[in-house]
Amino acid sequence: MQTEYIKLDPEHMDKAALKKGALLLRQGEVVAFPTETVYGLGANALDPAGVDKIFLAKGRPGDNPLIVHVAHPDQLKPLVTEISSGAYALMERFWPGPLTLIFPKSTLVPSNVTGGLNTVALRMPGHPVALALLQEAGVPVAAPSANLSGKPSPTVGEHVWTDLMGKIPLILDGGETQYGVESTVLDLTTTPPMILRPGGVTLEEIQEVIGEVRQDPALKANQPPRSPGMKYTHYAPEAEVLIMEGSEQEITSLIVNHYQRLVKTGQKIALLVSEETARELEHQLVPDYLEILGPRKNLSLVAHRLFSALRHADFHGVDLILIEAFSDQGLGAAVMNRMRKAAGNKVLKS
Ligand code: TXA
Ligand code: MG
Repeated sequence: MQTEYIKLDPEHMDKAALKKGALLLRQGEVVAFPTETVYGLGANALDPAGVDKIFLAKGRPGDNPLIVHVAHPDQLKPLVTEISSGAYALMERFWPGPLTLIFPKSTLVPSNVTGGLNTVALRMPGHPVALALLQEAGVPVAAPSANLSGKPSPTVGEHVWTDLMGKIPLILDGGETQYGVESTVLDLTTTPPMILRPGGVTLEEIQEVIGEVRQDPALKANQPPRSPGMKYTHYAPEAEVLIMEGSEQEITSLIVNHYQRLVKTGQKIALLVSEETARELEHQLVPDYLEILGPRKNLSLVAHRLFSALRHADFHGVDLILIEAFSDQGLGAAVMNRMRKAAGNKVLKS
C-alpha cells in the first residue's frame, strides 16, 4: 500500500487534507493523526471492518480494547448507557484533554472496539488537527497510539512513518505532540473510580473534581492489571533498557559504576538522564550516546521527550539504554509507568 504523508500547520489547516482524512475514515480506512498526547491510528468506531484494520496494521492483540475519540461531549451519549454526575464534572473540567473515561457501553459500539468488554473508553482530544478531523468525519473514531504494537508511542509524524509506512493509506503530520505520554485512563464503572493507566491528567487533579479515586493496585504490585492493554510488553525500543534508581547524591556514581562495568562487555550504551546528572557526568564519562530528558523538577518536559529519546537511542544503534529514574509524583506517575514498562521492570539501585 502507498502511504501518503501530509504535513499540516495546526494554525492554518489545509482543509483538503482534512477532507481526505475524513473521507478515508468514512470509507472504512485507517488514518494516522496527531493528538495532544501521542499520534493515534484512527478508524470509524462504528465500522467493525475499519476497526479490524487498526489491529492488523499495528499487529495488536484483539483483546486489547481501543479508545473512542469524540469531537464533542454530546457525541458520547449514544455510545454509553449511563453518565454519572462525576463523569459530567470530569468532562467539564478536562475535555478536550488527556483524560479517557470508561463507561458501560451501548449496543451501538462494535465488540472489536472494546476487545469483547461491556465497557467503552472515551475521550475528546485537545489537538486542533484531531478535533478538526473528528468534526469533518462526523463519526466517533477508535484510535490506539499509532505505533507498531509494543514500540514506544509516536510523538512526531516521522515515528508513525517508521512504524506504519506501507501499511496505512494516510499520515497527517501536525508536528510534535505536546504531552508525549498518553491519556490517563479512568474507570468510572467502579466505586470509587479507578485509574487504570496514569497519564497526562494526574491523580491529584482528578481528586480535586470527584474526591476519592483509587489506582489499580497492579500498577504498583506484580498483579495482572485490570486494563487489558497494560499486561502487554510496551514502549520497548530494540535496545535493552535498565532503570538507574538512586538518591540525588548517589545517582551519578551509580551510573558511572554500571556504565564502566557494562561497557567492558563491548556493548554500545546510551545514557538518558536528567540535566543535573548530565552536568555531573561531564567530567567523568564520554558515553557512546547521551540525551538529556530535562531538569528533575520539569516532569512535563521529561514526559514530552521520553518516547522520542528511546527511539533516538535505537536510531543510534545502541545495545543498552541506561535511563535515570525520576520522581513518580504528579506527571511523574505516567513517566515512571512508561519507563518501567520499556525496561520490563529491570531496575539497578544503589
Ligand atoms: O492518549 C491516548 O490515550 C492515545 C491517543 C491516541 O488518544 N491513545 C492510546 O491508546 O494510548 P492505546 O490503545 O495505546 O491505549 C489504550 C489503553 C489500553 O491500555 C487499553 O487496554 C485501555 O486503554 N482500555 C481501552 N478500553 C478499555 C476498557 N473498556 N476497559 C479497560 N481498559 C481499556
Ligand atoms: Mg499504545
